[in-house]
Amino acid sequence: MEKRENWSSKIGFILAAAGSAVGLGNIWKFPYIAGENGGGAFILIYLVAILIVGLPVMLCEIILGRKTQKNPVGAFNAIRPGSPWMFAGAIGVLAGFLILSYYSVVAGWTLGYIFKAITGQISSFQNIEMAKQSFDTFIQSAKWSVLCHFIIMAITTYIVYNGIKKGIERWSSILMPLVFVILIILIFKGLSMKGSKAGVNFLFSFDFKKLTPGAFVTAMGHAFFSLSLGLGVMITYGSYLSKGENLFKSTLAIVSLDTAVALLAGLAIFPAVFAVGLEPDAGPGLIFHLLPLVFSKMAFGIVWATLFFILIFFAAITSTISLLEVVSAYFIDELKWSRKTVVIVFGFIIFLLGIPSALSFGKWESVKLIGLSFFDFVDTLSANYFLPIGGILISLFVGWIWGTKNAVDEIRHGSHNFADVHLISLLAGLKDDPSHNSEVHVVTLASLWGIFIRFIAPIAIMIAFLVLIGVIKI
Ligand code: PHE
Repeated sequence: MEKRENWSSKIGFILAAAGSAVGLGNIWKFPYIAGENGGGAFILIYLVAILIVGLPVMLCEIILGRKTQKNPVGAFNAIRPGSPWMFAGAIGVLAGFLILSYYSVVAGWTLGYIFKAITGQISSFQNIEMAKQSFDTFIQSAKWSVLCHFIIMAITTYIVYNGIKKGIERWSSILMPLVFVILIILIFKGLSMKGSKAGVNFLFSFDFKKLTPGAFVTAMGHAFFSLSLGLGVMITYGSYLSKGENLFKSTLAIVSLDTAVALLAGLAIFPAVFAVGLEPDAGPGLIFHLLPLVFSKMAFGIVWATLFFILIFFAAITSTISLLEVVSAYFIDELKWSRKTVVIVFGFIIFLLGIPSALSFGKWESVKLIGLSFFDFVDTLSANYFLPIGGILISLFVGWIWGTKNAVDEIRHGSHNFADVHLISLLAGLKDDPSHNSEVHVVTLASLWGIFIRFIAPIAIMIAFLVLIGVIKI
């Protein structure tokens, strides 16, 4: 049997986990749903969702992983051997498998758009119709969409094949800093254009009327997807951590990086849109219809367009590898397959499963499953059902079955007083001051987290889930 690897450094783990979190969700989806739901108002609700659900659940997953040093199924099984709880892990592995199949298709589009950008096709669009036409022709083409999907799966398979340190950690450590560098360059460019201020105003304008329950549900669902929660990515990545890490700090770093990229993506996009005199149409077409037109109106459009699509492509790859790793870790730990075999076999199976999704926009457009295209069916099943169910089960398991007491014992390894100092002393930077450690405190990070994980997170996810699937009507 192969020896289980560990991350080679703390920062390597943070970049890999943030790499999983930062993806199409941040750069493609967040800006347009923020645009649709009232800009600043939505950003505010999103931050609340991140704080009350995202942070606590992410910490939960990382604790489970580090404690058990196992994949999602193995993690539940290690704590409650033989109990049905392992199905919570199994849903996660299945969700990873499903999400990767269609996520890779969209990631493939970004690859196609890098090609379109470099060859100057993008910078020649005259109007939005041309940009739309070009996108439709591209995604309807079976040849192109399947080829790009294949390339994404091949790259993903190659990276995961090389293991934790030499594959996932190495590539995340290269690609994530590049994501930041490119984003910053694009923001500077956008903000330096005349008329860009309107874009900033649009992004941060506060439309209170749009603070609706519906926006809250959208924010919750997006927070889950964006932070890669509910399917055990963070259990799996956490399982390669050593006992020396401060899990509170790492979780905070990952969540902050993910949120920062979402906001920065908005800042890279909207100012440029307004500066060239366009109105954001704020739908899923924002990236593939409107932005190409924006680039075609900018000087050196080829350069900006190429940079932008490389940015999304890099962000997507660090996410696809995490999805394949969840599936792989299960087969490696539980069924004792070798990494190389699992990765090649599943890389290929997931490629095959993605083909009907890739064809959903062209040849197989009319093939419907319960009224949805294959792509939408797999997306809805995994993102709207499996992720929230996974999230509820993970928080109930840690909060009530395994118990917050055991979980906090695990956090204490490496967290040096963080869990136990009075919150005020901690925030004041006095965590090591003897006067603040002399007695047992009640208001600590540990107790705050315990309340969130037992009550607030499961209830909030449950409500959002019931609204999402139409059981509760708002
Ligand atoms: N978080 C990724 C994104 O924002 C998507 C993802 C979801 C990746 C679930 C892994 C697991 O694009």
